[in-house]
Amino acid sequence: MSYYLGVDIGTSGTKTILVDASGKIVGEASESYPLHHPKPLWSEQDPEDWWQATVKTIRAAVKKAKVKPVDVKAIGLSGQMHGSVFLDKNNDVVRRALLWNDQRTAAECAEIEKRAGGRSKLIGMVANPALTGFTAPKILWLRNNEPKNFEKTKKVLLPKDDIRRRLTGEFATEVSDASGMLLLDVKKRDWSKPLLSKLELDTDLFAKCYESEEVTGKLTPEVAKLLGLTTDCVVVGGAGDCAANAVGTGVVKSGILSTSIGTSGVMFVHSDNVEIDPQGRLHTFCHAVRGKWHMMGVSLTAGGALQWFTEQLCAELAKGKTDPYEVLTQEASAVAAGSEGLFFLPYLAGERTPHADPDARGCFVGLTLKHTRGHLARAIMEGVTYAMRDSLAIIEEMGVPVRQIRASGGGAKSALWRQLQADLFGKKVVTLKAEQGPAFGVALLAMVGAGEYKNIEEACAATIELASETPVDRKTLRSYDKGFPVYQGLYQSLKSDFKRISSLG
Ligand code: XUL
Repeated sequence: MSYYLGVDIGTSGTKTILVDASGKIVGEASESYPLHHPKPLWSEQDPEDWWQATVKTIRAAVKKAKVKPVDVKAIGLSGQMHGSVFLDKNNDVVRRALLWNDQRTAAECAEIEKRAGGRSKLIGMVANPALTGFTAPKILWLRNNEPKNFEKTKKVLLPKDDIRRRLTGEFATEVSDASGMLLLDVKKRDWSKPLLSKLELDTDLFAKCYESEEVTGKLTPEVAKLLGLTTDCVVVGGAGDCAANAVGTGVVKSGILSTSIGTSGVMFVHSDNVEIDPQGRLHTFCHAVRGKWHMMGVSLTAGGALQWFTEQLCAELAKGKTDPYEVLTQEASAVAAGSEGLFFLPYLAGERTPHADPDARGCFVGLTLKHTRGHLARAIMEGVTYAMRDSLAIIEEMGVPVRQIRASGGGAKSALWRQLQADLFGKKVVTLKAEQGPAFGVALLAMVGAGEYKNIEEACAATIELASETPVDRKTLRSYDKGFPVYQGLYQSLKSDFKRISSLG
């Protein structure tokens, strides 16, 4: 029997699963690590924490499954996208990595557009506008603000690709994650030499770019020993966590949309051709399916908003016997749809889709003395789902067909949040038996790379099974249809205030 590892280096922690060729999970482990916010909208992590978590979870997953080391044939890597690991000539980390939800790079985004010859020229080169979370503006930020660190930097890697370097000794990336650096010619699926030259960035700073299922290297002897595996175990390209999650939920053909509510909220559709939102609100990236692309909208704070509320305002719940999220979900379920006029804007880390506004802020609007903790919790879940409906509205406006929604992440585990998605999106929501979206997706890519399946479509068809279906409650949909324009109007009304608030520091 052959086994495959899927490792997802997320923001709250690393999850590793070991699966057999039928997709059955035989071992799993996870490990969390801290997130650092040295300033209000800064977000950083230490790559060493990712490495320690990777080693620990691989060892634990393999140990639990009690499989023979030689039977673990391949590893697929997934991870939070857009992060910047800056390495010096000795491959030592120059400073902590800047993450996907870091908002310090507004000036560098303007600089990139200017150097590219304008926004539409930039979109022409890399299919996307400059957004604060992407990697290229982070590199320019380092050059502009920490020139000594920039001078030392010899390679810039994405989070999962730094883990690959430590596993295999190879500098490699793959098309889906590389798309989010804003330096990839998404159409040609390789680095954009014209943009690199306009930004005066050396091509040698970046890793070789592969397709997602291609083999990028093998475990080094030291690492094989450390992990209890063999040097025949290969590491495939893998994928950024959004594309990996799409693969893990079978979004490898048109008509299906995947939603993922983790720290961020993602709406993801497959595309056979390079489709670009001329207004640049949706991202157009390479898919982890060879020769295919995808579009997606990203809400920066989704499950992260409920986590913030739980930790900061309901800390006493952690002392009880019941899981705090369970308590809040029960209270929120008892509140009527619409939270009795309470709205929540989930822009706690600024917002990406559709506003691309680092100054946006989170807020409750419409509070009255009647509102309880349950109302606040429900308004948060509704606000996050409205934010994701903003992305769905753009996807549908572009004429992309959406027949089914596949939910994953923490938001799919909660029956209330599944129902909210069905009622707010107006479409049936299904979940899948394997819940580990990104880790499962890259385990499937590992199977393809090792020759277990012919291609990723075949691997998905053989391993993915539906688990549940949540139909739309038409009456509730009508009430959310009335709430949606109110939700959308709030950002427009508050936009200039957000700018003023942000300028106060
Ligand atoms: C995608 C994005 C986030 C991170 C979270 O563009 O920024 O979904 O990948 O892990």
